[in-house]
Amino acid sequence: CGIVGYAGYRSAAPVLIQGLRRLEYRGYDSYGIATLAEDVCVHKKAGKVSDIPDSPEILQGTIGIGHTRWATHGIPSDINAHPHLDCTDKIAVVHNGIIENYTHLRRDLIDRGHIFRSETDTEVIAHLIEEAYEGDLLEAVKKTLPLLTGSYALLIVSTGENRFIAARNQSPLVLGIGDGEIFAASDITPLLEYTSRVIYLDDGDIAELRADSYHVYFQNNPVEREIKEISWTPDTVQKGGYAHFMLKEIFEQPDVIHRATHAVSEETLPSSLRDAKSITVVACGSSYHAGMIFRYLLEPACGIPVRLELGSEYKYTPVPFSDVIIGISQSGETADTLAAIRKGICNNVRTVAITNVLNSSITRSAQDTILMHAGPEISVAASKSFLAQVGVLMQIVNLLSGRQCIDILDHARYAIEQVLLTDLTDAVDICSSADHLFYVGRGVFYPVMMEGALKMKEISYIHAEAYAAGELKHGPFALLSPETPVIAICSPGQAYEVMLGNMKEMKARGTPIIAFGLENDTDVRDIADVVIPIPEVHPWIQVLTSTVLLQLLAYHTANRLDREIDMPRNLAKSVTVE
Ligand code: G6P
Repeated sequence: CGIVGYAGYRSAAPVLIQGLRRLEYRGYDSYGIATLAEDVCVHKKAGKVSDIPDSPEILQGTIGIGHTRWATHGIPSDINAHPHLDCTDKIAVVHNGIIENYTHLRRDLIDRGHIFRSETDTEVIAHLIEEAYEGDLLEAVKKTLPLLTGSYALLIVSTGENRFIAARNQSPLVLGIGDGEIFAASDITPLLEYTSRVIYLDDGDIAELRADSYHVYFQNNPVEREIKEISWTPDTVQKGGYAHFMLKEIFEQPDVIHRATHAVSEETLPSSLRDAKSITVVACGSSYHAGMIFRYLLEPACGIPVRLELGSEYKYTPVPFSDVIIGISQSGETADTLAAIRKGICNNVRTVAITNVLNSSITRSAQDTILMHAGPEISVAASKSFLAQVGVLMQIVNLLSGRQCIDILDHARYAIEQVLLTDLTDAVDICSSADHLFYVGRGVFYPVMMEGALKMKEISYIHAEAYAAGELKHGPFALLSPETPVIAICSPGQAYEVMLGNMKEMKARGTPIIAFGLENDTDVRDIADVVIPIPEVHPWIQVLTSTVLLQLLAYHTANRLDREIDMPRNLAKSVTVE
């Protein structure tokens, strides 16, 4: 979910709606805003905030809060949309996070006569504040927060109060300090148009925000939090002429890979990694695939064993088995990855975060951080952030193995520029008319294909499964038919001959084959129905260029099917719940 708050001299509603549009990638099944005029005025609905017309002078007032939701408790509906109100309609709350003890709080509140309108965990907060309110919203919030167990970034307004209150515990919240106006938001993207001065709140902070002043409290005492200057500009979060953010982000990758591979050097490599005898990598989604590529590259290059864990499963392992845990997270906010880092710290294991977001929660938990410098990624499906992760991880392999082949990686940007121009029409024709797709590869190209299949599922809604090519025979072969195209990578190297063999076996089952192969490779051309040409480059660069081609294949297929590419159904970019 994303939240935004404003107090200043402008009409609050348009600022909030514009802010929510920037935050939509965090969740978009419903939205709502509350502004303060004489009373608290609320407008909330199921659906996307991008559906609101551009001149939303719907609510009066210069103070307000807003929310765009990714449903956790309660279906997406007008009623479950935030803000949530207390019984008197005077207090409005928006919330990102989960209140774990809400069932019990709700039962007690109902016993005390409160009437609930929604099924959400958030609504209990509005009722608790109502009970604690004795004419001072800040004091009421201070009394309420100790009753809550769980995670929250909260913004609260109340009738008769010329301010709004913000509070943070394990969900991101940043303040934007303008001239005569102030903002609060889940991340900096809604603030960029107005200010470059920000304060990242800490867990436990409560802030009282007025147009011309602010105060932050920690454990009931006033505290000073450092104001930081941010360098991102509004342009970095706009589409810049591309049809979708995803396409823009794919096309940024030549520069992104350059920045990412230069993000870590001999001097900046954390000592925990330099000294590691074994490494555990924990991540979710695309970041997990990046971790898997790392394992395929690091183990043979350095002989350092890498254990790879899904963030969501790591909690079920008894103890960390390595000297160091690397948490990979684009957003730096994924709850399961954060929990893994915290578990490592509790077990005295050294921790390193690889993330794209400065000051994100993971950077505060892990002992060391490597920033991947991909720039803001708005499209829900990861593209440039994945490539940046792989770039950073390749450079770590370089440094740990002493190979210092940064010059190989320097070639990556040119190779990527080249493949961005590939005509994929024939492959898109096949994919867009299929209901099921198999992606197969061997060695390091297996996780590359996992990422390719994930992209296809996420944005085209076509069922796509990745297999290690050798595993297809152990079951999935039963599904092969002329209706189940296979996408295979057959690049020169160790696995080349055996991949050719696998492709022949699949072809014998009547399966259409889209093969990634060298342009002049007649063996591949003889078997495949469509060949997607890959450049003749170092295998590491091959990993990067194949990734880009798979992103483009998913993008163009989804576009052909007229899908909502930047905001696929049911997904959110930043999953801050377990
Ligand atoms: C969500 C996103 C994915 C992402 C995953 C992990 O599911 O939709 O694109 O790979 O979270 O996110 P992280 O920010 O931790 O890399």
